[in-house]
Formats: sequence, C-alpha cells, structure tokens
Amino acid sequence: MRSPLKKLIHSIFPLGWPRNHRERLQAVRGNLWLHVFPARVRTESLHPKATLGLGLITFYLFVILCGSGLLLMMVYTPSTALAYRDMNDLAHVVSGGRFLRNVHRWSAHLMVLFCILHLVRVFCTGAYRKPREFNWVIGVILLGLTLGLSFTGYLLPWDQLSFWAITVSANILDYVPLLGAPLRRLLLGGEEVGQAALLRFYVLHVFALPTVTFLLIAVHVWRVRKDGGLACSDPELHRENNPETVSHVLTWPHLLLRLILVLQATLIMVFFFSILWDAPLLEIANPAHPPNPSKAPWYFLGLQEMVAHSAFWGGFMIPTLLAVLLLILPYVDRNPKGAGIWFSRDRRFALGLFAFCLFTLAILTVIGLWFRGPNWAWQWPWGGSGG
Ligand code: HEM
Repeated sequence: MRSPLKKLIHSIFPLGWPRNHRERLQAVRGNLWLHVFPARVRTESLHPKATLGLGLITFYLFVILCGSGLLLMMVYTPSTALAYRDMNDLAHVVSGGRFLRNVHRWSAHLMVLFCILHLVRVFCTGAYRKPREFNWVIGVILLGLTLGLSFTGYLLPWDQLSFWAITVSANILDYVPLLGAPLRRLLLGGEEVGQAALLRFYVLHVFALPTVTFLLIAVHVWRVRKDGGLACSDPELHRENNPETVSHVLTWPHLLLRLILVLQATLIMVFFFSILWDAPLLEIANPAHPPNPSKAPWYFLGLQEMVAHSAFWGGFMIPTLLAVLLLILPYVDRNPKGAGIWFSRDRRFALGLFAFCLFTLAILTVIGLWFRGPNWAWQWPWGGSGG
C-alpha cells in the first residue's frame, strides 16, 4: 500500500525518477519545462568553451530580477512624494529589504554586462551565420530591451543619482534630428523629469518591458533549438573537422546538471555582490541642484563621452550607425567560413573591426567613469586635473 504522501508525489510526477535510458528520454519529452530541450544533445555543445554559459546566466539574471522586482513592488510607490521614503524604508525598516534591493540592483547591472558578453561570444564564434541570422536580430532587440529595463529602473529610487543620470541620458535624445524632442517628451511625459516621467518609467519597468523581454527570450531560446542547436554542434563543422566527434548524450542528466551548476554560479555571484556592497542611495532628488558632473548610467557613459566631443556625431550618427550595423550584420557578413569556431582565422577582418569598436567603446566608458570631473573636464582618478 502506498502512503498518501507517495500518492500525492506520484500524482504530480507520474513518471517518477527516471532510472534507465528510455525513462530519461521520456522524462525530458513529457515535461512542460524540459521539452524546450531536445531529448539528446551533441556532446560538443555541453563543453564550457562552447557558450561559456553566458546566454544562460543572462536568462537566470532576468528570472532573479523578475522575482526580486515582484517583492520590491510590494513596498514601492511610484510617486515623487513617496518613492524616496520607500527606498529608505527598504534600507532601514523592512526586514531583509536592503538585501532584496541589493540583489535587484546588482542583478540589473550584471544582466546588462552578461548580455553584452553573450553578444561578444556569439560574434567571436561567428554563431550568427545561416540559419541563425534572425536569432541574432532577436538578440540585438533583447540587448535593447535589457538596456531599457535597466535604464527605466534607474529612475525609480528618486535620489540625486537617479534623477540626474536620467536627466542627462534623456537630454542626449535632443541630438536626434526631428524626432529627438518629441521622443523625449513622450518618454518623460513633459519637458522635465517629474511625476509623469516616474509613472511612465515605472509602467515600462514593471510591466511593458519585462513582458516583451520574456516573450522574446522564449522565441530566442526556441530558435536555438529550431536552428539546429548551438553553432558549435553543426554537423557540417564536425564532418569538416573531425567526423569522430559527432556524438550525443542524454539531456537528462548531462545538460540538466550543467543548467543547475550555472544557476548555482549565478546565485553565488549575485549574493556575493549583494552581501558586500549596498546599492547606492544619495539624498532625495533635487531638480534645482544638479551634481557636477552629472553622469549617465555606466552603459551610456561611452555615449555621453562622445556627445561631449560632438553632439550630432556622438549623440546621433555614430550610435545609429552602430545599431543598424549590428542589426544587419548577419546579412552583410556573407563569409561562409568559421561559424561555430572561436576566433576563426577565416574571419580576421570581421574580428579585427569588432575588436576595434568594442575597445573604443570600453575606453570611452572608462574615461567617462573615472577620468571626468566637474564640467566634464579631464580629471585623474587619483586627483588633479588634466588642464
Ligand atoms: C536577454 C538577453 C538574452 C538572453 C536571455 C539570451 C539567451 C540565450 C541562450 C540561453 C542561448 C543558448 C546558448 C548560450 O547560452 O549561449 C542563446 C543563444 C544565442 N543568442 Fe542569445 N540571449 C540574449 C541576448 C542575445 C544577444 C544580445 C545576441 C546577439 C546580438 C544573441 C544572439 C544569440 C545567438 C545567435 C544564439 C545562438 C548561438 C549559437 O548557436 O551558438 N542573444 N541566447
């Protein structure tokens, strides 16, 4: 006779713990969540070198953000009169509130970072080649959404840092010819960052952007499977290089174990940051007292630095050109060689150009972060101005 507990467990998991090859195949095919994966995967695609787990970490960070964000919503009021008080309550009154806010804040920064690293990985392995062109385009849109999510969240604490970072970033829109000013007004709900902007950013941040991001991630991951798995496991690649290596392993347990390991690593990383560093909270937003300098969030600092040199080129032409180039990249780079291979010698030109753009953007961001002082004048991080 089965105990009621065993009966309950059996009713939830009728297949039980899979013990043999057939049951393991069945376990993946018969599970709503797992059947996004094929029952078997190519051994090559499980090697850490294949993806470095970057897309997966980005996905986990998104899930952590949704979970922690939902809890934060229970304390936060999107009002200029109450938002800052709620943030203070989180830090000093709500039990575990400070940690919760830290988890949300650091996961947001990490998601932007890992999304960029994932893009770099996909580029360096040429994994946007046929048939994955459109998945690359979805990826570029996902990067835009990730930046949008982080950017809209930045305003919500309503302190000096958030208020002026958003004001500076929104001002960059003014350099877009014709559409810039109306776009800025649409985003802010007026000329200045105020109650209307806070409410718009809140709705975008907690509902509109996460919903679209969730749907696009689902399409993105589904396409990975429909496009034949990861580029490094393309049959042609194996046939060309080493036909012996075309081997498969079962998703249960081999892929699942790796998914769990990467989840653990992601959680450890987020908790590490959240325990060691508190998310910043300066004084309450004061529209009359801009800090000098006012800096955009780190991922827009390269843009801010370019704007400081030329408003039109830095604020409009170069970012637009880069975004368009990124979107159409798989359709212009028709070199059929090197897909699925890290730093393929057949792609020296594309890799060189990409490295140059990335390096320039990194340098501009570092300058904006540490080398700019009052009035955006040059300042050494250890003190002293550059004249
Ligand atoms: C929210 C952001 C994103 C999430 C959650 C995400 C998630 C994933 C996951 C889980 C994979 C499977 C393998 C892996 O871990 O690398 C993948 C593959 C892929 N991603 Fe993303 N991704 C995102 C953004 C991007 C971006 C910004 C790009 C490029 C512009 C991109 C392009 C691709 C491509 C082309 C593949 C197939 C790679 C291959 O076959 O080797 N993704 N993505």
